Amino acid sequence: MAASDDLWLRSDVDFPSNGTLEERIRFLIGYAALAPSGHNTQPWSFATGPDWVDVLADRTRPLPVVDPHDRELAISCGAAVGIFEAAARRFCLETTVATSPDPEVLRSLVRITVTEGAQPDAGEIALFNAIKNRRTDRAPISWKTFRVT
Ligand SMILES: Cc1cc2nc3c(=O)[nH]c(=O)nc-3n(C[C@H](O)[C@H](O)[C@H](O)COP(=O)(O)O)c2cc1C
Repeated sequence: MAASDDLWLRSDVDFPSNGTLEERIRFLIGYAALAPSGHNTQPWSFATGPDWVDVLADRTRPLPVVDPHDRELAISCGAAVGIFEAAARRFCLETTVATSPDPEVLRSLVRITVTEGAQPDAGEIALFNAIKNRRTDRAPISWKTFRVT
Protein backbone atom coordinates (compact mmCIF):
# COMPACT_ATOMS: atom_id res chain seq x y z
CA MET A 1 0.00 0.00 0.00
CA ALA A 2 1.39 3.37 -0.96
CA ALA A 3 1.68 5.89 1.87
CA SER A 4 -0.80 8.12 0.05
CA ASP A 5 -3.39 5.33 0.31
CA ASP A 6 -3.01 5.10 4.08
CA LEU A 7 -5.83 7.08 5.65
CA TRP A 8 -3.88 7.42 8.91
CA LEU A 9 -1.23 9.35 6.95
CA ARG A 10 -3.54 11.37 4.71
CA SER A 11 -3.10 15.09 5.20
CA ASP A 12 -6.01 17.15 6.51
CA VAL A 13 -4.99 20.01 4.20
CA ASP A 14 -6.12 17.90 1.24
CA PHE A 15 -9.75 18.45 2.28
CA PRO A 16 -11.48 19.73 -0.89
CA SER A 17 -12.78 23.00 0.59
CA ASN A 18 -13.90 24.25 -2.80
CA GLY A 19 -15.36 20.94 -3.92
CA THR A 20 -18.99 19.96 -4.09
CA LEU A 21 -20.68 18.92 -0.87
CA GLU A 22 -20.58 15.30 -2.05
CA GLU A 23 -16.82 15.55 -2.73
CA ARG A 24 -16.33 16.87 0.80
CA ILE A 25 -18.52 14.11 2.22
CA ARG A 26 -16.41 11.51 0.41
CA PHE A 27 -13.24 12.96 1.95
CA LEU A 28 -14.83 12.84 5.41
CA ILE A 29 -15.56 9.14 4.95
CA GLY A 30 -11.80 8.66 5.10
CA TYR A 31 -11.92 9.73 8.75
CA ALA A 32 -14.95 7.57 9.55
CA ALA A 33 -13.01 4.56 8.28
CA LEU A 34 -10.47 5.10 11.10
CA ALA A 35 -13.11 4.20 13.70
CA PRO A 36 -12.52 1.34 16.14
CA SER A 37 -14.31 -1.90 15.34
CA GLY A 38 -14.63 -5.33 16.87
CA HIS A 39 -11.44 -7.28 16.04
CA ASN A 40 -10.71 -4.54 13.52
CA THR A 41 -13.26 -6.02 11.12
CA GLN A 42 -14.24 -2.55 9.85
CA PRO A 43 -17.78 -3.86 9.13
CA TRP A 44 -19.05 -0.81 7.31
CA SER A 45 -19.47 0.55 3.85
CA PHE A 46 -20.70 3.90 2.65
CA ALA A 47 -22.93 5.24 -0.11
CA THR A 48 -23.15 8.94 -0.88
CA GLY A 49 -25.54 11.38 -2.53
CA PRO A 50 -25.38 15.14 -3.09
CA ASP A 51 -25.84 15.97 0.61
CA TRP A 52 -25.87 12.67 2.44
CA VAL A 53 -23.98 9.51 3.29
CA ASP A 54 -25.55 6.21 4.20
CA VAL A 55 -23.60 4.06 6.66
CA LEU A 56 -24.19 0.44 5.73
CA ALA A 57 -23.58 -2.63 7.84
CA ASP A 58 -21.26 -5.03 6.01
CA ARG A 59 -22.69 -8.30 7.24
CA THR A 60 -20.11 -10.26 5.26
CA ARG A 61 -17.75 -9.39 8.16
CA PRO A 62 -19.52 -10.89 11.17
CA LEU A 63 -17.94 -12.34 14.30
CA PRO A 64 -20.44 -15.16 14.89
CA VAL A 65 -18.73 -16.59 17.97
CA VAL A 66 -18.18 -13.42 20.02
CA ASP A 67 -20.93 -11.33 18.42
CA PRO A 68 -23.69 -13.72 17.28
CA HIS A 69 -26.35 -11.01 16.98
CA ASP A 70 -24.17 -8.40 15.19
CA ARG A 71 -24.53 -6.13 18.21
CA GLU A 72 -20.87 -5.14 18.27
CA LEU A 73 -20.94 -4.88 14.48
CA ALA A 74 -23.62 -2.21 14.82
CA ILE A 75 -21.67 -0.48 17.61
CA SER A 76 -18.63 -0.37 15.33
CA CYS A 77 -20.71 1.29 12.62
CA GLY A 78 -21.94 3.76 15.24
CA ALA A 79 -18.34 4.65 16.03
CA ALA A 80 -17.80 5.40 12.34
CA VAL A 81 -20.88 7.65 12.38
CA GLY A 82 -19.58 9.57 15.39
CA ILE A 83 -16.17 10.10 13.85
CA PHE A 84 -17.75 11.25 10.59
CA GLU A 85 -19.72 13.85 12.55
CA ALA A 86 -16.63 15.06 14.44
CA ALA A 87 -14.71 15.42 11.18
CA ALA A 88 -17.59 17.24 9.50
CA ARG A 89 -17.66 19.87 12.25
CA ARG A 90 -13.93 20.51 11.85
CA PHE A 91 -14.63 21.50 8.25
CA CYS A 92 -17.59 23.76 9.07
CA LEU A 93 -20.33 21.28 8.25
CA GLU A 94 -23.39 20.22 10.26
CA THR A 95 -24.77 16.71 10.39
CA THR A 96 -28.18 15.22 11.07
CA VAL A 97 -28.44 11.50 11.68
CA ALA A 98 -31.61 9.51 11.00
CA THR A 99 -31.89 5.82 11.60
CA SER A 100 -32.99 3.60 8.77
CA PRO A 101 -36.56 2.29 9.10
CA ASP A 102 -35.59 -1.26 8.17
CA PRO A 103 -31.84 -1.94 8.49
CA GLU A 104 -32.29 -5.69 8.04
CA VAL A 105 -33.62 -5.14 4.55
CA LEU A 106 -31.79 -1.99 3.53
CA ARG A 107 -28.44 -2.75 5.20
CA SER A 108 -28.29 1.00 5.74
CA LEU A 109 -28.17 1.69 9.47
CA VAL A 110 -28.32 5.45 9.26
CA ARG A 111 -28.38 8.30 6.80
CA ILE A 112 -26.25 11.32 7.74
CA THR A 113 -27.47 14.48 6.03
CA VAL A 114 -24.82 17.20 5.73
CA THR A 115 -25.33 20.97 5.50
CA GLU A 116 -23.07 24.02 5.57
CA GLY A 117 -22.32 25.18 9.12
CA ALA A 118 -20.41 27.55 11.34
CA GLN A 119 -16.73 27.52 12.29
CA PRO A 120 -15.87 24.83 14.85
CA ASP A 121 -15.18 25.84 18.44
CA ALA A 122 -12.08 24.81 20.38
CA GLY A 123 -13.72 21.69 21.75
CA GLU A 124 -14.76 20.52 18.30
CA ILE A 125 -11.24 21.07 16.97
CA ALA A 126 -9.80 19.09 19.89
CA LEU A 127 -12.23 16.26 19.18
CA PHE A 128 -11.20 16.23 15.52
CA ASN A 129 -7.51 16.17 16.46
CA ALA A 130 -8.17 13.11 18.61
CA ILE A 131 -9.37 11.08 15.60
CA LYS A 132 -5.87 10.14 14.43
CA ASN A 133 -4.32 10.09 17.92
CA ARG A 134 -6.83 7.61 19.32
CA ARG A 135 -5.92 3.94 19.71
CA THR A 136 -7.62 1.13 21.62
CA ASP A 137 -5.93 0.69 25.00
CA ARG A 138 -5.78 -2.95 26.05
CA ALA A 139 -4.14 -2.30 29.41
CA PRO A 140 -5.94 -3.71 32.46
CA ILE A 141 -8.80 -1.53 33.64
CA SER A 142 -9.14 -0.68 37.30
CA TRP A 143 -11.98 1.06 39.03
CA LYS A 144 -9.28 3.50 40.12
CA THR A 145 -9.09 4.53 36.44
CA PHE A 146 -12.46 6.21 36.75
CA ARG A 147 -12.93 9.31 38.81
CA VAL A 148 -16.49 9.89 39.88
CA THR A 149 -17.12 13.34 41.24
C1 LIG B 1 -17.70 -2.90 19.44
C2 LIG B 1 -16.24 -3.12 19.73
C3 LIG B 1 -15.83 -4.19 20.49
C4 LIG B 1 -14.47 -4.40 20.78
N1 LIG B 1 -14.11 -5.46 21.58
C5 LIG B 1 -12.81 -5.60 21.93
C6 LIG B 1 -12.43 -6.63 22.85
O1 LIG B 1 -13.26 -7.41 23.33
N2 LIG B 1 -11.12 -6.75 23.19
C7 LIG B 1 -10.17 -5.88 22.67
O2 LIG B 1 -8.99 -6.03 23.04
N3 LIG B 1 -10.51 -4.90 21.79
C8 LIG B 1 -11.80 -4.74 21.44
N4 LIG B 1 -12.16 -3.73 20.58
C9 LIG B 1 -11.12 -2.88 20.00
C10 LIG B 1 -10.75 -3.35 18.58
O3 LIG B 1 -10.02 -4.56 18.61
C11 LIG B 1 -9.95 -2.21 17.91
O4 LIG B 1 -10.81 -1.11 17.77
C12 LIG B 1 -9.46 -2.61 16.54
O5 LIG B 1 -8.48 -3.64 16.63
C13 LIG B 1 -8.79 -1.44 15.82
O6 LIG B 1 -7.73 -0.88 16.60
P1 LIG B 1 -7.76 0.65 17.04
O7 LIG B 1 -8.98 0.90 17.89
O8 LIG B 1 -6.48 0.85 17.82
O9 LIG B 1 -7.80 1.48 15.77
C14 LIG B 1 -13.49 -3.51 20.26
C15 LIG B 1 -13.91 -2.44 19.49
C16 LIG B 1 -15.26 -2.22 19.23
C17 LIG B 1 -15.69 -1.03 18.39
